Amino acid sequence: MAETKNEVKFSDAAMADIQRYISHYPEGRQKSAILPILHIAQAEFGGWVSPEVMDKVAEILDIEPIEVYEVATFYTMFNLKPVGRHVLEVCRTGPCCLRGADQLIETLKHKLGVEEGGTSADGLFTLKPVECLASCGTGPMLQVREKFYENLETEEQVDAFLEMMRKSGVETPYHQAAYQKS
Ligand code: FES
Repeated sequence: MAETKNEVKFSDAAMADIQRYISHYPEGRQKSAILPILHIAQAEFGGWVSPEVMDKVAEILDIEPIEVYEVATFYTMFNLKPVGRHVLEVCRTGPCCLRGADQLIETLKHKLGVEEGGTSADGLFTLKPVECLASCGTGPMLQVREKFYENLETEEQVDAFLEMMRKSGVETPYHQAAYQKS
């Protein structure tokens, strides 16, 4: 069967960053740059990494696609399908569960009209339960990009949080994060 050409193309700015990360490692060890490159790929291509994007990363790193899939599917910070503007990564590990993480997830499911992993109809929120985010003393908590939102114990607190996130729509959307195509 004829090989299909990968049409995925990084912007010049993204490629410059990719090459910079690769240059941090010795010859033949370029795979070590896979995590920052996947972050760049996710920022560049709509907040998620498709199989085609992962294949492109493999091509750039001169490794097998399966090596990229293994990493991207292991870490929850990589999205494997399209996401909303705000990805709510809710901790569901033991200590947070003891403080109501299950209830927080149920409340968010109800208020956003989504199941776990789903995106709200308005495209604003994706609900993504994840494992421990190292903020165990302030659970139940969630993360949106690099920011923590903690002690979300009551429905009122969840409402206030969602309202704040809705108003933050003027910020750069998740899916236009780091790189602007010229
Ligand atoms: S258990 Fe939730 S942050 Fe650690």
